[in-house]
Amino acid sequence: MTKKWLRERAKDYYYRLAKSEGYRSRAAYKLLQTSEKYRFIKRGYVVLDLGAAPGGWMQIARELVGKDGYVLGVDLETIEGSSGIMWLHLLVI
Ligand SMILES: C[S@@+](CC[C@H](N)C(=O)[O-])C[C@H]1O[C@@H](n2cnc3c(N)ncnc32)[C@H](O)[C@@H]1O
Repeated sequence: MTKKWLRERAKDYYYRLAKSEGYRSRAAYKLLQTSEKYRFIKRGYVVLDLGAAPGGWMQIARELVGKDGYVLGVDLETIEGSSGIMWLHLLVI
């Protein structure tokens, strides 16, 4: 087993997990793990996600801030709608 093989396998694991748990990207787990470790997103926070598509981090942030918090995502790409998440699509000229 090479390091590359192990890395690819882990990526596939999180990709499949994200699909089965309804997250928009496997990146969701990166934010979940780092936020659990460092606790930098707390209930009631306002989170601005720059470069947010497809929205996996926004889903996790939404869970962490709770009903009194807000999550706003900005991206050049369209972020497909989802309840409880605000997003802003920017056209840069
Ligand atoms: C790796 S993806 C982010 C994935 C996201 N964190 C998630 O959890 O789903 C990077 C995003 O940054 C966006 N992006 C790159 N440059 C940007 C810019 N100048 N302004 C807005 N969005 C940008 C891209 O369109 C892309 O969707």
